[in-house]
Amino acid sequence: MKGIILAGGTGTRLHPATLVVSKQLLAVGDKPMLYYPLSTLMLAGIRDILLISTPRDLPQFKRLLGDGSELGLSIGYAEQDAPRGIADAFRVGASHVGDDSVALILGDNIFHGPGFSDVLHGNAQDVEGCVLFGYPVNDPERYGIGETDGRGRLVSLEEKPDRPRSNRAVTGLYFYDNEVVDIAKNLSPSPRGELEITDVNRHYLERDRARLVDLGRGFAWLDTGTPASLLEAGQYVHMLEERQGVRIACIEEVALRMGFIGAQECHRLGERMSGSEYGRYVMEVSEEFAPQGGQTGTAAATDW
Ligand code: TTP
Repeated sequence: MKGIILAGGTGTRLHPATLVVSKQLLAVGDKPMLYYPLSTLMLAGIRDILLISTPRDLPQFKRLLGDGSELGLSIGYAEQDAPRGIADAFRVGASHVGDDSVALILGDNIFHGPGFSDVLHGNAQDVEGCVLFGYPVNDPERYGIGETDGRGRLVSLEEKPDRPRSNRAVTGLYFYDNEVVDIAKNLSPSPRGELEITDVNRHYLERDRARLVDLGRGFAWLDTGTPASLLEAGQYVHMLEERQGVRIACIEEVALRMGFIGAQECHRLGERMSGSEYGRYVMEVSEEFAPQGGQTGTAAATDW
């Protein structure tokens, strides 16, 4: 399965913070926002990733992540020169997807919760049709809302409904089979001028080929689009990290635990940032995996 991170947009609701820098490069807690969606794809076992952003912001993403090889990944880059909508990701990324299935994640979506890795892994195998991820919200009028039958099959999809049929918001993480490339190619822009991801999802729904996986209670799906929600997301991450002594979306640790890199490589990545707590954490984690004497060890994937 291929991965796409859509990290363009204008971030108007965060102006002036985003006047000269991408929203997805702003810090959430102790790391760039982009680390969160990147680690989500990595936890799904995806190593071949395309990052789509604006011509203005792409160079900075490249400086941050390079070709991904230090994390055992392959990261490519593509421009979206105007915010033509989320489904545009499959036009811009068509050659990256090739004949494969694909996971798309929005660059400003932060997920955290127990067993997330299992949920991702389980659903990333042999995707047929589309798999959406639903999250219970108390203001469904503000979201795209999905309704399922008892077995997780999607039976309705409504955009910002006045009278919602469920409280399950469709989040910014989507798994598709290869047909999505053709569907996106044939899509027309909506009245607001965008290629809508909801239209893609509706295409699958109408053919009875869509599932909605419930992320459920105990899970966090954090919004980062406004100054208040960005601050709250940072506080959430900070609070959990302080209390538990573990880090959320530490991409070096995820690469190590997924077996994408070894302990020595991980340690070297930490050393470069040894002036920060984050960097020292990366070093500590890699030392836990390296047997005495500093031999390289490879960790098994965990279930977080
Ligand atoms: P939005 O929050 O809809 O847009 P935005 O990030 O530009 O913010 P604002 O509403 O404040 O102007 O986008 C959601 C995510 O999708 C975000 O990570 C940016 C990304 N995106 C693109 O990269 N290209 C697009 O064409 C669209 C519509 C969104």
